[in-house]
Amino acid sequence: ELDGDAHRPTYHFAPPANWMNDPNGIVEYDGTYHLFYQYNPAGPYHGSIHWGHATSDDLVYWEDRPVALTPDLDGPDKDGCWSGCTVLDDGQPTFVYTGGSGGDQTPCLARAIDDSLDEWEKHPGNPVIEDIPEELGILSNDQWNAEFRDHDVWREDGTWYHLIGTGLEDGGGAAILYTSDTLTEWELVGPLLVGDRHEDGPLWECPELLDFGESQVLQVSNYDKVVYFVGTFDGTSFDRRADGTVDHGNYYAAQSVPHGEDQYLSWGWIREDRDGAAQWDAGWSGVMSLPRVLSLDEDDTLRVRPTPEVEALRGHHQSLPKQTLSPEDSVFPETSGSALEIQVTFELGDAEAFELVVGESPDGAERTPVRYSCENELVVDRSASSESKAPSSNSQRIPSISTDDGLVTLHVFVDGSVVELFANERESLSSRIYPTREDSTGVSLNAVGGDVAIHNVDIWELDPAFS
Ligand code: FRU
Repeated sequence: ELDGDAHRPTYHFAPPANWMNDPNGIVEYDGTYHLFYQYNPAGPYHGSIHWGHATSDDLVYWEDRPVALTPDLDGPDKDGCWSGCTVLDDGQPTFVYTGGSGGDQTPCLARAIDDSLDEWEKHPGNPVIEDIPEELGILSNDQWNAEFRDHDVWREDGTWYHLIGTGLEDGGGAAILYTSDTLTEWELVGPLLVGDRHEDGPLWECPELLDFGESQVLQVSNYDKVVYFVGTFDGTSFDRRADGTVDHGNYYAAQSVPHGEDQYLSWGWIREDRDGAAQWDAGWSGVMSLPRVLSLDEDDTLRVRPTPEVEALRGHHQSLPKQTLSPEDSVFPETSGSALEIQVTFELGDAEAFELVVGESPDGAERTPVRYSCENELVVDRSASSESKAPSSNSQRIPSISTDDGLVTLHVFVDGSVVELFANERESLSSRIYPTREDSTGVSLNAVGGDVAIHNVDIWELDPAFS
């Protein structure tokens, strides 16, 4: 039996209670990070969406702030203040958000009243784009509950650029480009990129254009995962030359802010993987990923890794020596718990697989192996994560890990029900597990079908980031 709420994270950001989905309007302003997010103050379900708000000076400890945006019963956002971004308009923080649901989901503006970014005044002329351009063949609202979705706005050489997520009947998910001199009057340029419905998803949400100098990356959420396209943006068009998946698990609606040269800090929503009744009982739903650093490698792949600031949470530390792990001798480090950071570097050699198991009960009845196999595949096997066989009992996988020299480093963060993992500080997979037992907190290392060369193992207990 579980005491308290063992599934609630202690160092991944979540509001004190109720529903959260997408990160919104993230901005570093006056040395403080402001994280806004899709929030329902009425309960742990999606509805009546407001913008919640939290601030941090160090990317690790977050302070809960009052709600920043509330739907107006007679406004274009009456059905919800849906996702968007923050821009600085002559230095003044301004939200570009979506008047959500029901209607056309058109863009609205709000301005910060003071530097706390606690209070916002909506633009009287909302929405600032009223008509969905018919000539584009945008999916109908009835079918997809969407016409326009989500806004990414930035300024370059005196021009505002505006990307909007949508889907085209003739094609698939799409990002539509507008430009403006003023933020209030927008001119349609056209689709910046249109995907293939089957390959790239039917509808793109939360588009973002990231600038890595020579190359640009369009990051979108495709109704299933966060994916990216690498190409060159010339102000009106984007030539797509490579693509990939940002995270192979429950990670969605990612949003990023520039972070030093050719790098971004990025967050995504890690949704629940249990049914609505369980979320209702818990009183909360949705977790933010750790802040991640994004960079672009020379081979046009996006590199995803946790930001080093998170090391501030490291407490009790155990490290294991270099060793050969054989199938007969599993290793059970003493350090265990539900708030852990684990880093393991190994070489598979002739073995079939290496397993790092988390959430393991002493009798092994509940356990979640993170298994790297000789097919170069990484699987989070949730078939025995929970004796209650919650909906999360399926497996999740990264089909192919990039290794330069046969060495694999798994960097795994366990936080209540969250398992957020990074492979070779490059690929990522965010998973959720819901063990039913108090003692499902163990860790083990196993070799399958042959010896595995373990180079190093470090395990830290992580301090809570919230009191
Ligand atoms: C993505 C999304 C957005 C929308 C918001 C509504 O998860 O569906 O497209 O703006 O969430 O909460």
